[in-house]
Amino acid sequence: MTLETPVALELRPLQIVDLDELMAIEACSYPFPWSRGNFVDSLSSGYRAQGLWQRSGDAPAPDAALRMLVAYSWAMEGVEELHLLNLTVHPEHRRAGHARLLLNDLVRWAVPRALWWMWLEVRASNAAARRLYEAYGFEEAGLRRGYYPNVRSSREDAVLMRLDMRKAWERVHEPEPA
Ligand SMILES: CC(C)(COP(=O)(O)OP(=O)(O)OC[C@H]1O[C@@H](n2cnc3c(N)ncnc32)[C@H](O)[C@@H]1OP(=O)(O)O)[C@@H](O)C(=O)NCCC(=O)NCCS
Repeated sequence: MTLETPVALELRPLQIVDLDELMAIEACSYPFPWSRGNFVDSLSSGYRAQGLWQRSGDAPAPDAALRMLVAYSWAMEGVEELHLLNLTVHPEHRRAGHARLLLNDLVRWAVPRALWWMWLEVRASNAAARRLYEAYGFEEAGLRRGYYPNVRSSREDAVLMRLDMRKAWERVHEPEPA
């Protein structure tokens, strides 16, 4: 018999103590994962880092042992723009809307701060991420040749993508269809 346990999601800023859990997800998500030092430096630089935790609906909220990190986003604030540096979902928790939820969170945070554009680079071969960003409203804005290292010596291009966050803001605030 399958028991359907309700789950609760919690979104909060990442801290150094979260990095062990995060590194495990990072390592199995990328051919060239960020190092722990990259994340530590990003925290010191004040980048916006949000983690999404899941816990069983029947577990008491303070019980950290019953919570697990399922996704995270890292973004750098610029002048009237935000650069999305890292968006990752635990392999066993994909296609559950977590990436979309993290993008919505960034839009809600950025627009009141007058950050109108979100930029990112994505590997040309990363079909899942490109589908996600296109579906979310990002547009292709250019190609950075040889931007990424590759497992086989030659390098891989990055597609540069851009989101008009004012348009995204309207979508984020649209009422759900009845
Ligand atoms: C790309 C990634 C972040 C997507 O996360 P996710 O939580 O599974 O995405 P969501 O569930 O929010 O998907 C939202 C939409 O994106 C698209 N999408 C996401 N994953 C997809 C896939 N594997 N194939 C096709 N479309 C996909 C769909 O349109 C999806 O909507 P739907 O499920 O209603 O059809 C995740 O696959 C991941 O962490 N990959 C490894 C790390 C990575 O590549 N990060 C991006 C670096 S630029």
